[in-house]
Amino acid sequence: MKGVILAGGSGTRLYPTTQVINKHFVPIYDKPMIYYPMSVMMMLKIRDVALVVNPQDKAGFERLFGHGEKLGMHIEYLVQQKPNGLAEGLVLAEDFIGEDSICYMLGDNIFFGHDLPNVLGKAKAEVEGNGGAYVFAYPVKDPERFGIVAFNDRGEVQSIEEKPKEPKSNWAVVGLYFYDKHAVKVAKGVKPSERGEVEITSVNEAYLRGGKLKVGLLGRGFAWFDAGTYDSFIETSEFVATLEKRTGLMISCLEEIAYKNGWISIKELMEIAEELKNTDYGEYLKEVIEDAL
Ligand code: DAU
Repeated sequence: MKGVILAGGSGTRLYPTTQVINKHFVPIYDKPMIYYPMSVMMMLKIRDVALVVNPQDKAGFERLFGHGEKLGMHIEYLVQQKPNGLAEGLVLAEDFIGEDSICYMLGDNIFFGHDLPNVLGKAKAEVEGNGGAYVFAYPVKDPERFGIVAFNDRGEVQSIEEKPKEPKSNWAVVGLYFYDKHAVKVAKGVKPSERGEVEITSVNEAYLRGGKLKVGLLGRGFAWFDAGTYDSFIETSEFVATLEKRTGLMISCLEEIAYKNGWISIKELMEIAEELKNTDYGEYLKEVIEDAL
C-alpha cells in the first residue's frame, strides 16, 4: 500500500498567518502539524508516501523531509496548482499509485489512541486483501462541518453526505481513507460540488453505491482532531502536551518510529540526535537511543 497526504489547500480560514506560512508547518505543541499524519503512515508501515502540496510551499516541505532519506522512506511531492478539492489529490497521484492500494490522509487530521495501529492496520489489511474502500467515523457535536455517514436500524451505511445542512447523524467521516486501486478512476469521474470542489465524499459515495464501502467506528478511547481553526490548534496542542508530560513519551516522533520500524540504524538516529542537540526533541531522541543500548 502507498500513502498520500493532502497538504495543499489555501488556508484562507487562517489568514493572515497562512499568507506567509503553510498551515501544515504550524506547530502542534512541539512539532509541525504535518508530522502527525506522517507518523500514522509510518505506524502502518507505509514507506512510500506522496505529499500533495501548493506550488509555493513545495520547497518548505522538501527542506523538512527531503525525499525521506533520514526516515528510511521514499517521499515525493505532487504539486496541486489550485485547491480544487480533496478528490483531486487521487488524480494527481495516479502515476505514483500505479496498481497499488492507497492510504489517503488529510494533512490537518491528528489521531491518537492506544489501539490505533491495530484498528487502522485491520482496515489496511482488509483493503489490501479484498479491495473496496474503508473509512472511519467519529462522533461530533457539529456535524454540519464534516462529511457525515448515517446508518439504518441494522447498522448498515445508509448515506454519506458532505457538510449537510440537516445532518442525518452525528458520525463524521475522519480524514483517513483506505482505497483499492480503483479510487483514481472513481475520482476522475467526480463532478465539482456546489462549493466548486471535487469532494472526497463523492468518491466514498461511489464506493457505497457499488456496495464496496466499509465504515469502522472510532469511539471512546480514540482522540481525533481536525486542526482547521486557531482554537483547535490550542486544544490539540494541550492534549499532546499533557500526554507527553505525563508519560515522558513523545507522540509522533518520526525518527523514533523509523528506528523502531527498522528503517534507520541506531547510528543514523544518533546523527540526527546530534544535529538536534540542545533542543527538547534532540534530548528525547537521546533518551530513545539510551533505552535501545
Ligand atoms: O477532517 C475531516 C473532514 O475533512 C471530512 O469530514 C470531510 O468530509 C472532508 O471534506 C474534509 O473537510 P474539511 O472542510 O475539513 O477539508 P479542508 O478543506 O480543511 O481540507 C483538508 C486538508 O486537505 C487540509 O489539510 C488542506 C488539504 N487540501 C484541501 C483542499 C480543498 C488540499 O491539499 N487540497 C485541496 O484542494
